[in-house]
Amino acid sequence: MDYKVLLEQAKSILKESGKDKEQKLLGVCQLLFDSIPYYDWVGFYFADHDRRVLELGPYVGDETDHVIIPFGKGICGQVANSNETFLVDDVTAQDNYIACSITVKSEIVVPLFVKGVNIGQIDIDSHTKAAFTAEDQEFLENLNLEVANIF
Ligand code: SME
Repeated sequence: MDYKVLLEQAKSILKESGKDKEQKLLGVCQLLFDSIPYYDWVGFYFADHDRRVLELGPYVGDETDHVIIPFGKGICGQVANSNETFLVDDVTAQDNYIACSITVKSEIVVPLFVKGVNIGQIDIDSHTKAAFTAEDQEFLENLNLEVANIF
């Protein structure tokens, strides 16, 4: 996959006029889901800093029960606290993990910063073990820099 091209495609989606934030983010989720075969669930969570929870935003993939995740819980909740990307090669080896489905084998969660504040994250699950590389990480971190511009 050419991540440069993919990033440009994502940027055009984020610039589309007449679409609100939700629609743009859903478009980005769909683009990633359709473009990268091992991205099996792609979604955004957003932080409610007062309640210290993450709330599910736009996503593409199987429906999930985890619409509210407390800070600190699971991979997503840990990223809400750590402000750092969390790349998991094997979810079964994680103690603090929230399983959405037994088909998920690996996961990457990348924080989304707006004006230095961690406002949420992009979360991607894969049915393939150790699916995500340093290239995926770099791509998703660059993507979130672009996503930040619509906030
Ligand atoms: N696996 C995540 C929960 C969210 S679902 O993957 C959509 C976690 O451990 O935080």
